[in-house]
Amino acid sequence: MGQSEGKLHNQVAIVTGAAQGMGATIAGRLAAEGATVVLSDINAEKVALVAESINAAAGDRALAMRTDVTKEDEVAEMVETTVEHCGTVGILVNNAGILYPTRIDYVTKAEWDEVLDVNLNGSFLCSKAVLPTMKANKFGRIVNMSSSAGRSVSTLGGVHYTAAKAGVLGLTRGMAKEVAPFGITVNAVCPGLIDTEMARENCSPEQLRAYEESFPIPRLGTPEEVAQLIVFLATDAAYITGAAIDINGGDLMM
Ligand SMILES: NC(=O)c1ccc[n+]([C@@H]2O[C@H](COP(=O)([O-])OP(=O)(O)OC[C@H]3O[C@@H](n4cnc5c(N)ncnc54)[C@H](O)[C@@H]3O)[C@@H](O)[C@H]2O)c1
Repeated sequence: MGQSEGKLHNQVAIVTGAAQGMGATIAGRLAAEGATVVLSDINAEKVALVAESINAAAGDRALAMRTDVTKEDEVAEMVETTVEHCGTVGILVNNAGILYPTRIDYVTKAEWDEVLDVNLNGSFLCSKAVLPTMKANKFGRIVNMSSSAGRSVSTLGGVHYTAAKAGVLGLTRGMAKEVAPFGITVNAVCPGLIDTEMARENCSPEQLRAYEESFPIPRLGTPEEVAQLIVFLATDAAYITGAAIDINGGDLMM
């Protein structure tokens, strides 16, 4: 792996849902700051291409892995392979997520379960799997991807998405309290509308423009801006745990 110095020099990070959108950008930013990064995603081909491009840009410090975060055995394998190849794991970004805009009358039990499974249960399973290593190291940084939806109500997603992202905030606080004695912090990031495939697939260009115009900072957020916030939370410098940090151009002021 490459040797350049950075804010996350010598750290090993796992980013879930890293085949596109924010996950891909977060993985690239962590690598640029000196971390060795395991990019995991349910889409094996796409995540391999992202890892290749990070390796080309930031030196040989990215590894791709196919993992479905809802499957406990696949999550265990993701963490075992990370420790085997990279020696340890100090940073976990629970980014994998899905959204459906379905209104409640049309949400089936299967769709409800799927949304809760990926957004909430996946974050629980991945966190639980890295904790033994982090506890042994007396150091860990877990960042969970919630949303403005978790703080208020989803703009694009249905009730299941809002419920899952609110659940992520509870998971964050509960874990943060339990693992603080081991030098592990757990925080949630709550983005508003960020310019990714997820936003573009669920919104017409006209709708997106209308949303932008309604924000105090009148534009969409960028994946890079979210990635910069996550880098800070992943450093030693962050005396922050159990927090839900809004990043939304002032759309939601709490
Ligand atoms: N884009 C936004 O406006 C926005 C705002 C707030 C929060 N978020 C959240 O940020 C995260 C990233 O969003 P994005 O816009 O980059 O989404 P995206 O749809 O562009 O990317 C999500 C990634 O997760 C992967 N994924 C889906 N199911 C998975 C599973 N079971 N196991 C592993 N990987 C899986 C997908 O293959 C994809 O690569 C999500 O948790 C999302 O809910 C997004």
